[in-house]
Amino acid sequence: MPSFGNPFQGNVERKLTKEELIQAIRLNIAGELEAIYIYDAHVQATDNEIAKKVIADIRDEEKAHVGELMELLRILDPKEAEFFTEGQEEVREMLEELGITEPKEEKKNDATNSFTVGSLLEE
Ligand SMILES: [Fe+2]
Repeated sequence: MPSFGNPFQGNVERKLTKEELIQAIRLNIAGELEAIYIYDAHVQATDNEIAKKVIADIRDEEKAHVGELMELLRILDPKEAEFFTEGQEEVREMLEELGITEPKEEKKNDATNSFTVGSLLEE
């Protein structure tokens, strides 16, 4: 929950190092996931159609934020991105073992398409 009582709470003494920024992005992603969970719980907890529509829309915007932050994390830390790809490939292998074909929509989000930018920006 927000704590706005202290107007200086958000101030910082210095800029983040790259490693600290990466950690901050991970924390941001966790915050977005928590928000999705909470908004979704509220959608499920009401029968008010207007509230359901508005809150579900906000929830879905948070999902887009997760995507933005994950892409940022991939750019900032291409090595970590390799682990994401590794995990995705493991799941695809399991799907193959089960004889399940991946839906085409999900293939469009293939993270392996994202590595070029991150590789170019790596310091
Ligand atoms: Fe968000």
